This record gives sequence, C-alpha cells and structure tokens, in this order.
Amino acid sequence: MAHDTPDPQRGRVSDHPPRSLHVHPLPSLVRPEDLEGGVVVAIDVLRATTTIVAALAAGCRGVIPVLTVDDARDRAKDFSRGEYLLIGERQGEPIPGFDLGNSPGDFVADACWDRTAICTTTNGTRAILHAARASSVLIGSFVNFSAICEELRSGDAPIHLLCAGTNGQVSLEDMLFAGAVVEFFATGYDVGLNDSARIAWDTHEHHGHVLVAALELGAGGKRLLELGLDVDLKMAADVDRFCLVPQFDPTTGMITARTAHFDSRFFLGDSGLYG
Ligand code: MLT
Repeated sequence: MAHDTPDPQRGRVSDHPPRSLHVHPLPSLVRPEDLEGGVVVAIDVLRATTTIVAALAAGCRGVIPVLTVDDARDRAKDFSRGEYLLIGERQGEPIPGFDLGNSPGDFVADACWDRTAICTTTNGTRAILHAARASSVLIGSFVNFSAICEELRSGDAPIHLLCAGTNGQVSLEDMLFAGAVVEFFATGYDVGLNDSARIAWDTHEHHGHVLVAALELGAGGKRLLELGLDVDLKMAADVDRFCLVPQFDPTTGMITARTAHFDSRFFLGDSGLYG
C-alpha cells in the first residue's frame, strides 16, 4: 500500500492554463448542458463501446444507438430488410428477434458488411445519447485506445470521459479505460484534472498492468464470466486491436468511423500480458 504525500504538480507540465480533462464516472454525474463545447468519449468497455468499434471494423456502414427495444424496431422501418441489423442486449443476453447480441467477436464481415446496425444496450447506448449536446462525441474502448488518444490530442476542446457504468453503479472497467487516457495525457500534456480523473488515474496505475485480470475483478466482468462469455472479456482487453475513431452525429443519430493515423501505440499500461 502506498503512503506517499500527494504531489500537487502531478499531471502538470507547464504554468499555462491547462486543457481540462474531466472524468464522469456515471452519466447521472454530469448534466448534458455541461458537455456543450467539449469533446466527449463515451465509454462502456463491457461491452457496448467495444462492440460498436468491432461492428464498424467489420464493415457496418454505421451504428445507430437507441434507448429501447421499441425504438430499435421503429428505426428499422427506415431501412429495407437486408440493409440493417438489430443488435444489443438486455441483462447481457441477446434480445429475442434481434440479429446479433452484444458480443464483439460476433461482428464479422459476413454479418456486417454494408449494413447499418441499430443498437440498444442497457447502459452504453444511454451514455452515448446523454452526450448529444457536446461538440464531438467519440466512442472509446481499449480496442481503439491509441486511435482515441491521437484524436483527442489533435484538438484543444475540453475533454470529458463519460463512463456508462452499470445500472447507476460505477464500473471498474470504464474507470480503468478513463484512467488510461488520463495517464497518457497527464504524463505528456498540460491538463487540468477533476477529482474523478485523479481517481481513475490511480485506478489504472494500480490495476491497468494486468488488464484481463482487472476486467475479471469488476461486477461487469464477473457477470460475463457467469454467462460463459470469457471470450468477450478477452476481446475487450485487446488493446489497439482496431485503428478506428467512431464518432456519433446527433443530427443523423448515426455513429460512423474513420481510420486513425498514429506512429506508435500510446497505451502505458501494457505489460505484454495481453498485447
Ligand atoms: C450495457 O450497455 O449495459 C452493456 O454493454 C451490457 C453488456 O452487454 O454487457
């Protein structure tokens, strides 16, 4: 256990006004209007944001996040059969009548190519929609960690890392991802952290070097193991598997992705155990 005196300069590299980097452990802890003017990264590592990245990587034209099963079926009416996929989960299980659940590994080109996925999950899609008033809403998970960092560092807007959590409870895995982003910025850039960002950073420093084990430790990871979905958890820990920056456009309601270009991987917690 560490008992060092906290360093007030930790995370500061110059005397200029820093770029703000705030972590919100749950959507309910930040008002939609407080995200205006900022760039939000919506985070639901287990599993919605991991799956959305995988769906786009597998060739989906876009992903439309919606709140309810009825909303998903209604939105599907805008498409011809064969043009869309209904995807998502309730209680972690695939939704009856939907094409795919929320397991990222199921999103392969055969199922996805050229189709639009209409997606409803318990917490993840809710977090994305909560951020609709931000200037930019990105979809982040460990599978596109460096792509997200590259995108964030190329701008100067305040950064909000918005964790989905699980049914109103803070999730370890979302805080770990947020902490990994905080660690990347705070060790090389001048950022002003809120208290939750410092907590996330500490959490990542403590657990981020054994990522699969850390994901297994949280309630969301334990639930996936109980459902026999170990493979989903391992895929969620596959840092930088994809080089994509997915972005939600609130005017179309659609998430689309572009390829990121970066020279090196930015994940500072990589101990080689899972890379
Ligand atoms: C959610 O949005 O609540 C999650 O992604 C649940 C899951 O599929 O494990």
